[in-house]
Parts: sequence; structure tokens; C-alpha cells
Amino acid sequence: MRIDIVTGLPKLLESPFQESILKRGQAKGRIELHVHDLREFAHDKHQSIDDTPYGGGAGMILKPEPIFECIEHLQKARQYDEVIYLTADGETLDQSIANELSLCQNIILLCGHYKGIDERVRETLVTREISIGDYVLTGGELAAAVLVDAVARLVPGVLNDGESALTDSFQDGLLGGPQFTKPAEFRGLKVPDILLSGNHSEIAKWREEQRNERTKSRRHDMLER
Ligand code: ADE
Repeated sequence: MRIDIVTGLPKLLESPFQESILKRGQAKGRIELHVHDLREFAHDKHQSIDDTPYGGGAGMILKPEPIFECIEHLQKARQYDEVIYLTADGETLDQSIANELSLCQNIILLCGHYKGIDERVRETLVTREISIGDYVLTGGELAAAVLVDAVARLVPGVLNDGESALTDSFQDGLLGGPQFTKPAEFRGLKVPDILLSGNHSEIAKWREEQRNERTKSRRHDMLER
């Protein structure tokens, strides 16, 4: 899967993809991540990518020309399944959207300024608008990093067998349960006996109960769904 991220602040996206699982997913050739600097598609002498809003008001709005140029340049090279604009007023990202996007071949993520982008971009280029939650960020970059992380780990071959996404919280409608590692006792706090018992069917039963209990107490809405 290939993900192209279009942003006015490429530096914000330098490090999130250079660590751990996403780094390995790229090294294995399972995911390709490309960050594009909108300023490279601005042609005036100040290389400006934003301007004041028509009709007045505070803040700057991303101009249409660099965004159109950048996205059309990408679309000439390959076909994209989606052009996604990250915005607080989009549909809220959840596991089922992440699952769906992980099946795409190529997607473009467009990051906005907090005051927004020229509406003509949304009307004509953007195919989908996604929010990562009901709060306002200063821009779409961190939201794009969240979306990439949630989607990329679902692409086959990105996770090792042992890291399987199939047992994730949300993947089967339940939260994950408690996990423990060595030592068996730490500052008087003991790992539940059942986990040390070696009885695999009882352990599986216990784990299922814990997941149900946790989901019931923390996210009753998930059980109702
Ligand atoms: N840009 C600003 N706030 C955002 C949010 N909550 N989700 C996605 N993009 C955003």
C-alpha cells in the first residue's frame, strides 16, 4: 500500500514513520509513505501556500493552486482509491474505517490548517473527509500520522505473526484485556495465578471474561452495538 501525504508542514511528519513497526513495514516493502511539501508547488516569489479569507475573518486559508498542482501531479503517476482530507468536521475515524482503508492500493492524505482550506479543494479533489475525534488540532498533520499508524499496521505483512491485529481491542467489538510480563511478583503485586497455571483452555476463558468485563465497565456502548 502507498500513502502520499500532502502538507505545508512536512517537518512535523519526519519522525513518526521512522520508528518501530512503521519503519519495518516500509523496509519490508509492505507500505510506502511519501510526504510532499506544498511549498514546492507554490510559484509566487514568497512561495506562499495560504492567504486571508474572502469576506474577512481571522486566520489564513490554504490556497487552492498548490494543492491542485500537487495532487494532480500525483494522480498523473498512478490511480488513487481515495483523496482524504483530515478535518475536525469529517467522519470520525474508527477501526472499521481503518480496516476499509487498509485494503486500498494508493491513498492521498491532505492536511489542512486549523482555519481550513479553500472549499473548492473539498468540492472537487477530496473524496472523503476524516476526523480523528471531537477536538480541534492546529492542523491535519498529527491526525494524518494517527491515520497512517492505524491503517498501516493492518496491511498484511506489516505486523509479525506474534503482533497479530486480529486480537486487537475493537477488532472483534471488545476491548483488550489485562496483560502481564515477568516478574511474577513486583513490589508485592502478583500476576494472576491462572496465567501461571499452564492451563491454556482456562487461560483463554479467563481472558475472554476479562475482555467482556472491561468492555462492560468502560465502553458499554460497544456491547450495545
Ligand atoms: N484537523 C484539525 N482537527 C482535526 C481532527 N480532530 N481530526 C482530523 N483533522 C483535524
